[in-house]
Amino acid sequence: MIKKIKTEQLRPGIFVHDFNCDWAGENIFISKALIKDERAIKIIRSWGIKEVYIDTDLGLDVEPAKTAYEVQQETNRNLHKLAQRKRTATPPPIPLKDEVQMARTIRNEAVVTMREAMRAVQEGKCIDPDNAFRLVEKMQESVTRNKDALILLTRIRKKDEYTLMHSISVSSLVLAFCSSCDISYDMTINLAMGSLFHDIGKTRIPNSILNKPGKLDQKEFTIMKKHAEYSAKVLAETTELPPEAHDIALHHHERYDGTGYPHGLKGDTIEFGSRIAAICDVYDAITSIRCYKNGLDRVQGLRKLYEWSDHYFDKELTYKFIRSIGVYPIGTYVRLANELSGVVINSTENILQPVVRIFYNDKKKTAIQIQEIDLSKIGINIAGYDSPEKWSSDKMHIFQQNKNDLSPLH
Ligand SMILES: [Fe+2]
Ligand SMILES: [Fe+2]
Repeated sequence: MIKKIKTEQLRPGIFVHDFNCDWAGENIFISKALIKDERAIKIIRSWGIKEVYIDTDLGLDVEPAKTAYEVQQETNRNLHKLAQRKRTATPPPIPLKDEVQMARTIRNEAVVTMREAMRAVQEGKCIDPDNAFRLVEKMQESVTRNKDALILLTRIRKKDEYTLMHSISVSSLVLAFCSSCDISYDMTINLAMGSLFHDIGKTRIPNSILNKPGKLDQKEFTIMKKHAEYSAKVLAETTELPPEAHDIALHHHERYDGTGYPHGLKGDTIEFGSRIAAICDVYDAITSIRCYKNGLDRVQGLRKLYEWSDHYFDKELTYKFIRSIGVYPIGTYVRLANELSGVVINSTENILQPVVRIFYNDKKKTAIQIQEIDLSKIGINIAGYDSPEKWSSDKMHIFQQNKNDLSPLH
């Protein structure tokens, strides 16, 4: 059985199933391990890890401890409660399907701008700030028209362009956050600029480390960590960039409890922009497919952020971020209170009652005619999340109306 325990409860003979530290933002050099001695426990604590998941079938059991299932159920309930604190949201001025075309053009432009910026840095030149500002302004307009379109389009990635699409995605997530929190226009643009270039320093990390299919060893991880300082150096060499952009480049891996890098800053000594960029950065990283792992689905990603906000992130900002994404992001499989199953395809002004494309009757265990239901109009609630595995790709035809459909996207 998989259980979650605090690192103070670790002792030799326990089998660690998951170090629960993807918040590190990079692939840490170990995944599962049997704890052999006290020295190993000291090392795990030195990584800043506060809680781990253990496998009691492969090692000693520990009491008291919640099972992974209990943790998941509790987090689901908490996410739902969190959403209820602010049930209403401004309805998007433009429907998703109408914004997708415009967002696609902006995404393509962003890819070109980022490719040029990365090439410039590789050749020892500066980034063109005017180009980047123009791009970020267009991205902001798209997110204001419809917060989901650009975010969804950044999920479609080729294998070799992780850093590039990750940067565009983090910037889009920051824009969505700012728009839902009424952050001023100028500050929004500055934070989005910093997020767009937060990992630009990775262009100075050897490809053998950046794209290594396996786990990084300690030495490689130390080199990887240098990218934050490299990013800050690149931005410092570029004139006209706001101080917030520089700070995000340098401090997006700082953690609220002081266990981050490069400076080990703690709490509110980490600037606001870097605290929100850190949340968006980790959310995108853990929900992306990488060369060494599959990504979590977006609800699992939100659950992890919620869990980790106890230690590593600004709790209030994390909660606001979760609300800005919505506890039922587009592409989430859900069960309705009336026992129908479907997939979320659009947001509404009530974040607990999105538009759902239903395709299955859970009670009768049969596929049903596909229908799109706006839950906010008919007052039906979501009873819970459905696992994406239940609707594996061979069953997708049940609810995909055509292959250009945006949902479900994972
Ligand atoms: Fe980074
Ligand atoms: Fe990043």
